[in-house]
Amino acid sequence: MARVEFLVKAFCLILVITHCQFQDAQTETLSSIGVNWGAQASQPMEPSVVVNMLKNNGIKKVKLFDADSWTVSAFRGTDIELMLGIPNDQLKKLSKSKDDAKDWVKENVTKHVKDGGVNIRYVSVGNEAFLSSYNGSYIHILFPAMQNIQRAIEKAGYGDKIKVTSALNADVYESGSSGKPSNGVFRKDTYDVMKQIVQFLDEKNSPLVVNIYPFLSLYQSKDFPEEFAFFDSSNSEIDDNGAHYSNMFDANLDTLVASLKKIGHPNVPIVIGEIGWPTDGDKNANVQNAKKFYRGFLKKMASKKGSPRHPGTMTVYLFGLFDENLKSIAPGNFERHWGIFRYDGKPKFQVDFSGKEQDKYPIAAKGVRYQEHKWCVLKNNISNITSLGGAMSYACAGGDCTSLGYGCSCFGILNGQGNASYAFNQYFQINDQSVEACDFDGVATIVSKDPTKGNCRFPIAIYSNGNMLQVMHKLGGFFIMFSLILTIVWFHWESFLMGPLTLSVKVQDSAISSPPPDACIRRKQNSPVRNSFASVSIGEEKPFDFLRTLFEGVIAGGTAGVVVETALYPIDTIKTRLQAARAGEKLVLKGLYSGLTGNLAGVLPASALFVGVYEPIKQKLLRIFPENLSAFAHLTAGAVGGIAASLIRVPTEVVKQRMQTGQFSSASGAVRFIAAKEGFKGLYAGYGSFLLRDLPFDAIQFCIYEQIRIGYKLAARRDLNDPENAIIGAFAGALTGAITTPLDVIKTRLMVQGSANQYKGIVDCVQTIIKEEGPQALLKGIGPRVLWIGIGGSIFFGVLESTKRFLAERRPALVHHSKSEKVKD
Ligand SMILES: *[C@@H]1O[C@H](CO)[C@@H](O)[C@H](O)[C@H]1NC(C)=O
Ligand SMILES: *[C@@H]1O[C@H](CO)[C@@H](O)[C@H](O)[C@H]1NC(C)=O
Ligand SMILES: *[C@@H]1O[C@H](CO)[C@@H](O)[C@H](O)[C@H]1NC(C)=O
Ligand SMILES: *[C@@H]1O[C@H](CO)[C@@H](O)[C@H](O)[C@H]1NC(C)=O
Ligand SMILES: *[C@@H]1O[C@H](CO)[C@@H](O)[C@H](O)[C@H]1NC(C)=O
Repeated sequence: MARVEFLVKAFCLILVITHCQFQDAQTETLSSIGVNWGAQASQPMEPSVVVNMLKNNGIKKVKLFDADSWTVSAFRGTDIELMLGIPNDQLKKLSKSKDDAKDWVKENVTKHVKDGGVNIRYVSVGNEAFLSSYNGSYIHILFPAMQNIQRAIEKAGYGDKIKVTSALNADVYESGSSGKPSNGVFRKDTYDVMKQIVQFLDEKNSPLVVNIYPFLSLYQSKDFPEEFAFFDSSNSEIDDNGAHYSNMFDANLDTLVASLKKIGHPNVPIVIGEIGWPTDGDKNANVQNAKKFYRGFLKKMASKKGSPRHPGTMTVYLFGLFDENLKSIAPGNFERHWGIFRYDGKPKFQVDFSGKEQDKYPIAAKGVRYQEHKWCVLKNNISNITSLGGAMSYACAGGDCTSLGYGCSCFGILNGQGNASYAFNQYFQINDQSVEACDFDGVATIVSKDPTKGNCRFPIAIYSNGNMLQVMHKLGGFFIMFSLILTIVWFHWESFLMGPLTLSVKVQDSAISSPPPDACIRRKQNSPVRNSFASVSIGEEKPFDFLRTLFEGVIAGGTAGVVVETALYPIDTIKTRLQAARAGEKLVLKGLYSGLTGNLAGVLPASALFVGVYEPIKQKLLRIFPENLSAFAHLTAGAVGGIAASLIRVPTEVVKQRMQTGQFSSASGAVRFIAAKEGFKGLYAGYGSFLLRDLPFDAIQFCIYEQIRIGYKLAARRDLNDPENAIIGAFAGALTGAITTPLDVIKTRLMVQGSANQYKGIVDCVQTIIKEEGPQALLKGIGPRVLWIGIGGSIFFGVLESTKRFLAERRPALVHHSKSEKVKD
């Protein structure tokens, strides 16, 4: 019976699955249609999610604006044709150096084509490089850069398959005052170089790529007939020697055709690099117009009629795939709203990529992960909003407020308070919902009810590659928990088998009386080596002397800290300089000991305080927790010790790092200057990230160290000697150091920036580093760091344990002494 039921269910499931696949396969998309995928967003979509979405929508051509390796490799194994882009800021380099061009091709083309099976078909060198607003900056470097890339691609053996071109803006050609397409000619300042470029494209059988924007014509000119921007009117606006133009696209295209004819290359294939309609940020930019535009345009593409002077079909790349909230709004507020899909991969309007005018939404991205369902809004008891101007402009400088303006999606829907809430939330979400990003002098608060009103959406940020820190955090945390559990299980195997919960109790209770019930415990008690007070509490039966523990901890910690710091200061200096050096700067090796005095003055009390707090708390907690949970005692004690020490450590670190990078020459001078110039806040700059790094760091390092020691002791059945402590310390240090490197890089950057405030916070710092220097920059200095902390760990724990033993050995004598004194009294 159950079997039959199972078979029926399985059969139904198979039916459903095949049906779904059948439906997916039905998505019919014009083969000439491609899309532009730009990623200037605070939380760009994950490439694999996007590629799946493209596949589901039947899109076979994609144009990118760079060659980001993660993005490109997501196309591995698909048949989607790629056009890679080279940003304008790389043109100079590539125009000058054949080697740089070769490297570019090797890293960004060959690697993907050869190893990954990515279907790269075009490279667009530069993007709209001849835009008149660039004042001719690229006129003389675009063509040489194209030639160098072409040569490099030919050398790599892909000359036939991968075509070099350059996506140009439509203002490289013009039709003069007549506006007649047949008068089309390349703009005067670009005429000569366009002639060379077109000749080159013709020779290499590459297409000319041009971006045509009816929306911009409408936006820029008051007299522009609105319907001329669309495709539904049959009124001829321009009559040109018998050719009638009822839409601006045809007229613009034919202007290009005429321009090409004039320089003698009428047959160069034309590709439309960008065309589309934005949905917000201007009175003409809305969902209805975008739907109307795409509907008309795609229908026209499906008809394959072409324009009067360019009949037939051609490839077009729609602009664009997603909204991009970090795009410059210099051209207009609409710049951030070109997406057919929203920032999270949800379609905004109905669009039929088959050109059949069906009212259906394209298929949304699947598997997008949203951040928490929370929003940052104005507190509801704030009624006087006249004073909020400053907070609003701050929020809107960082976040995207382009939907608030006249005629936009939130205009007329929100009141003044709503405006403020919208701005606050945009800033909050762009900063990955960081609590600090929802302060605004106390007038903002975080809520869990969606404040969205009508078409005015309050978005929730998605998780993306910009959230590396969180991912690392999770991975790091997972890794640590995993190794901890492994370590604990490994070393406590024996006690697990024997019923761990009773073990410590028995040991403590049975210390004097009844014989221990099993050999293991007896062994420990018979152990000839006296437990130093610092060792883990197995079999610890001495009464707990808080003051003594504190005192000895302070001494041992202070000693260990000073020894380590003095020994390793030069390596630390090198590390800091490596991390603070931005790409291309040289490393200075002078004055490796500068700042040591100031640093020792901080390290001594900090380290003393840390161990002083750590030891008694650890001892206390170990008495509370069962033995098999000792790891938690160590973690907690480490964290508490870390918090105590950070009060001293942070200012010291700030001074140290600013001195190491050469901003100050004496510690006291640095303190005075920072306190005067930047106040108390300056001395505690980067406190958040310091806690972020150091708290887990200390806790983890001490925990790993103690846990390994416990295990080692159980295995060795004796107390450890100094070299053993040192080796375990080194291992714990190196492991912890490697895991926490990114946190350290961020902390250093934040602390070194001073009042320049280059980064807005932890998240911004990470995003900027990743964007400007790549994710690997977060691992800058990992070599010296692991070395430093590994060696540091070995010295620190070695010195710590021997100092503690030294002190402990004196302890019984002291106790005895005082007793005898009492007796004497
Ligand atoms: C490859 O492309 C990326 C992204 O556009 C760029 O940052 C990198 O510099 C390129 N590689 C080389 C060797 O130029
Ligand atoms: C071009 O020139 C204008 C006016 O001279 C100037 O405002 C603008 O910043 C320049 N743009 C570039 C990219 O150099
Ligand atoms: C709003 O309420 C909060 C507490 O709920 C209070 O601290 C704040 O002073 C109030 N603000 C105004 C302007 O009433
Ligand atoms: C609102 O606040 C501003 C500045 O804080 C103040 O000048 C104005 O008088 C206040 N208006 C009301 C109605 O309280
Ligand atoms: C909201 O902000 C926009 C843009 O700053 C402004 O045009 C609009 O008038 C504001 N609305 C209210 C009710 O203050």
